[in-house]
Amino acid sequence: MIAFDPLSTNERVRVVDLHPKLGDLRQESIDGLRRSQKALPCKYFYDALGARLFEAITELPEYYPTRTELRIMSQAVHEMADSIGTHATLVEFGSGVGLKTQKLLDALIDPSGCVLIDISRAALEASAHQLAGRYEDMEVIGVCADYTQALRLPRPHRPSARTVAFFPGSTIGNFTRDEAVRFLGRVSELVGQGGGLLVGIDRKKDTKAIEDAYNDSLGVTAAFNLNILRRLNQIGANFDLTQFRHHAPYVEREGRIEMRLVSERDQMVRLGDVQIALSAGEHIVTEHSHKYDLDQFEDMAQAAGFRLTKQWSDERDWFSVCLLEVD
Ligand code: AVI
Repeated sequence: MIAFDPLSTNERVRVVDLHPKLGDLRQESIDGLRRSQKALPCKYFYDALGARLFEAITELPEYYPTRTELRIMSQAVHEMADSIGTHATLVEFGSGVGLKTQKLLDALIDPSGCVLIDISRAALEASAHQLAGRYEDMEVIGVCADYTQALRLPRPHRPSARTVAFFPGSTIGNFTRDEAVRFLGRVSELVGQGGGLLVGIDRKKDTKAIEDAYNDSLGVTAAFNLNILRRLNQIGANFDLTQFRHHAPYVEREGRIEMRLVSERDQMVRLGDVQIALSAGEHIVTEHSHKYDLDQFEDMAQAAGFRLTKQWSDERDWFSVCLLEVD
């Protein structure tokens, strides 16, 4: 008997490096701390320890978004796959090894390929090979790029019926509203006519439920927030972590959680040769996490060239996975 020799994992994996400009933690932090409302960029939460703390957050009883989205995906993934249709190319913003991506890929009907976009080439190579090992007929293309910037997608070799991007986790909520619309606009261009985006959004709800999710009783979110100061100390800052307190109120007017680090006293902090003065009670904003009504999100999608064609929510309407499509 002649055995059919499938393409090896290596033959099905390609990595295209667009040489993204890497962020400058020191300079961006100095710029943020010099503003009248002091701020630090939330993308710097995620060093190795920060990533592990975030994983722990997703398991906290109070942090509902991850498990709610996963439940929605488990219940509706075949409907999602039917709506996406056969021979689609799936684009994932991030390195694509999460459980939700796996659920979607398991349900998709004969996808043409999967394109992963991530700023870290090492993470991309590892996950592209891992995915190609798991899905033996699928081509995997890694694009080393900053997905918050405009980019063009490489195409898989097999013909593709349409391109559909996946952006789970309510990460879109960490953009300002304007940034989110700009991001959606770039995605609608990226996927083109007939293309789509499956995106997770955290819905507006009872303030206490939201605030509990970001002020958990074990203090994991506090550690995650303070970790950004520990990172800065590794590059020459002298933050005393005991002199900052985590506080994450829901700001109704803006429809968002504001992750803050509140200074416990008047203090001077040094970052390299820059001195920053903080007064007692003053806070540094480290992250915004926007919560959306469906109507509001639909308007944003429309402003970006998408139509909201389907959505799947949990029974309490705490979280939604929306399918946006370009006509
Ligand atoms: C990654 N992102 C969607 C999380 C959120 O809920 O905004 C980050 C996070 N910050 C504190 N807890 C979780």
